Amino acid sequence: MLKLIGIETYYGKIKALHGVSLEVLEGQLVCILGANGAGKSTILKTISGLVEPEYGTIHFNEKRIDRMDGEEIVRMGIGHVPEWRRIFGELTVEENLLMGGFLLKDKELVHARMEEAFQHFPILKKRKSQQAGNMSGGEQQMLAISRALMLKPKLLLLDEPSLGLSPLLVQDIFATIKELHNAGTTILLVEQNVNQALKIADYGYVLTTGKIFLSGTYDELLEEEKVREQYLGEGKYNRRAKVWSG
Ligand SMILES: Nc1ncnc2c1ncn2[C@@H]1O[C@H](COP(=O)(O)OP(=O)(O)OP(=O)(O)O)[C@@H](O)[C@H]1O
Ligand SMILES: [Mg+2]
Repeated sequence: MLKLIGIETYYGKIKALHGVSLEVLEGQLVCILGANGAGKSTILKTISGLVEPEYGTIHFNEKRIDRMDGEEIVRMGIGHVPEWRRIFGELTVEENLLMGGFLLKDKELVHARMEEAFQHFPILKKRKSQQAGNMSGGEQQMLAISRALMLKPKLLLLDEPSLGLSPLLVQDIFATIKELHNAGTTILLVEQNVNQALKIADYGYVLTTGKIFLSGTYDELLEEEKVREQYLGEGKYNRRAKVWSG
């Protein structure tokens, strides 16, 4: 469904991605793992057209999308939930959802989709008229995901959905991601919550300084000593760190 080949993305003169190739098959949940600054968000931003790659190609359902603008890519069926949620804090929950459905001409469809979101996350219905910025981190994450789902994307890009949430809410968010996946949404998930992410993912890529250096299934990645040591806090270099700092 999605195929990146040799993607190189720059911010000015800074090269953030050094030839990234990866693939997501239809119906899969694929995760990208990596330390702070490795380039995880840049991969998602490059796919959704927020930044343009200097080299390489991106195909989505056999069409080249790496030269398309963000709106065209949304129309193709790619939804992006950015890091730190980035909802419109001054707008209400309902207004945020309406923004998410901006490409839909049919008002009834917009309302049907909104009802679906409320069924999925009843708390959003209660908070419907509340300013989104006043909600808790977990509620804002639910809203950010719901906003992206308004257009029923074929592929959902999720950038660290568990960031800054309490352990209980992290469980909730992962349960939600799993449900979405089970319901047939293809998902590319960026996470630092390695254990949780790999448990629900079909396949994982590990990124270091803009390069994919390992990939495999949960079991395959867990066999890699480096992954166990540096991400899961096991082995001789155990620093009890759950997040790779190196
Ligand atoms: N707008 C920008 N301008 C200049 N450099 C940037 C910009 N955004 C990211 N970078 C740089 O590109 C590299 C990759 O950043 P990116 O945000 O993709 O990393 P990340 O893996 O998502 O990190 P984190 O886990 O902290 O979210 C970093 O070195 C970062 O400093
Ligand atoms: Mg990031």
